[in-house]
Amino acid sequence: MSDAHATHIQRLRESLEGVILGKSEVIELLMVGVLAGGHVLLEDVPGVGKTTLAKALSTALGLDFSRVQFTPDLLPGDIVGSQVLNPTDGSFRFLAGPVFTEVLLADEINRASPRTQSALLEAMSEGQVTIEGQTYPLKQPFFVLATQNPVDFQGTYPLPEAQLDRFLIRLSLGYPSHAQELDMLFAHQRSHPLDGMEAVMDRAQLLALQEAVRSIHVTREVGDYLIRLVEGTRRHDKVDLGISPRGSLACFRTAQARALVHGRDYVSPDDLQALAVPTMAHRLILAPESRYGGKTPADIIDEVLADTAVPG
Ligand SMILES: Nc1ncnc2c1ncn2[C@@H]1O[C@H](COP(=O)(O)OP(=O)(O)OP(=O)(O)O)[C@@H](O)[C@H]1O
Ligand SMILES: [Mg+2]
Repeated sequence: MSDAHATHIQRLRESLEGVILGKSEVIELLMVGVLAGGHVLLEDVPGVGKTTLAKALSTALGLDFSRVQFTPDLLPGDIVGSQVLNPTDGSFRFLAGPVFTEVLLADEINRASPRTQSALLEAMSEGQVTIEGQTYPLKQPFFVLATQNPVDFQGTYPLPEAQLDRFLIRLSLGYPSHAQELDMLFAHQRSHPLDGMEAVMDRAQLLALQEAVRSIHVTREVGDYLIRLVEGTRRHDKVDLGISPRGSLACFRTAQARALVHGRDYVSPDDLQALAVPTMAHRLILAPESRYGGKTPADIIDEVLADTAVPG
């Protein structure tokens, strides 16, 4: 790996860790998601630093940032944009929605109607939006960090699994430890840590890192291990719907990104193991009896990992 890549990755990690304390694992997974060119779902309770993390990421990468608070009355046009009439000459002009940014925080995505959710998810997976027959490409890079509250509140529309499949990674931040929360108090005493942040790379350097991810070597044996893990989820008797081929691709690309983040030019089985829960758990649909029997998708992934032979 080139020294420049290693330096950029290290600086990005340090700058995010300086704002969100005690969350290095989550920060690493977020970096993996960004470098792999995918979108990340953060499932968490209020006040644990989701918005702060998204802002920190866009500042560190020197990218434009916008935030959309999802509500039940939000319409697809409020996200992707719409054609507006100019009353003076009767012509139409495209008014771009907030999706035309580089880092988009889609806050509480499960509060919007399924139609609005799917407008965003379509834009995410296609990298473009089509309005009244006209296609508009989104920016490059384009990264969505969507948040969802894990507690089922009244009036929410949980994302269906088919939509969850479009997120590369699902994460949760969780509370900091006692010591880290104490440090947080004093880090915030005079000003917010975000205020002093600066970009650690530019757009071209980020695109170069994303390109480097694709060149990370994967042996046929490691690819075979990935597919055996995926098949293990499809065969599992407590699973109604296992990992899709889209999910296999997500595991492949995120494993390459994790290798790069760890300074390797090849994927090792460790990468797949470390990423199995964050890349796979949200894609599984469990059989009803296991859902009520207290098993979580993460438990199933752990079982599949334990039952699948690791290449030597
Ligand atoms: N682990 C942490 N390290 C440092 N600061 C933290 C941490 N967790 C939360 N904070 C701080 O707590 C405050 C609230 O965080 P933030 O607004 O990002 O939460 P949120 O998860 O977006 O909440 P909501 O769901 O209500 O939007 C911020 O000032 C943030 O810096
Ligand atoms: Mg927030």
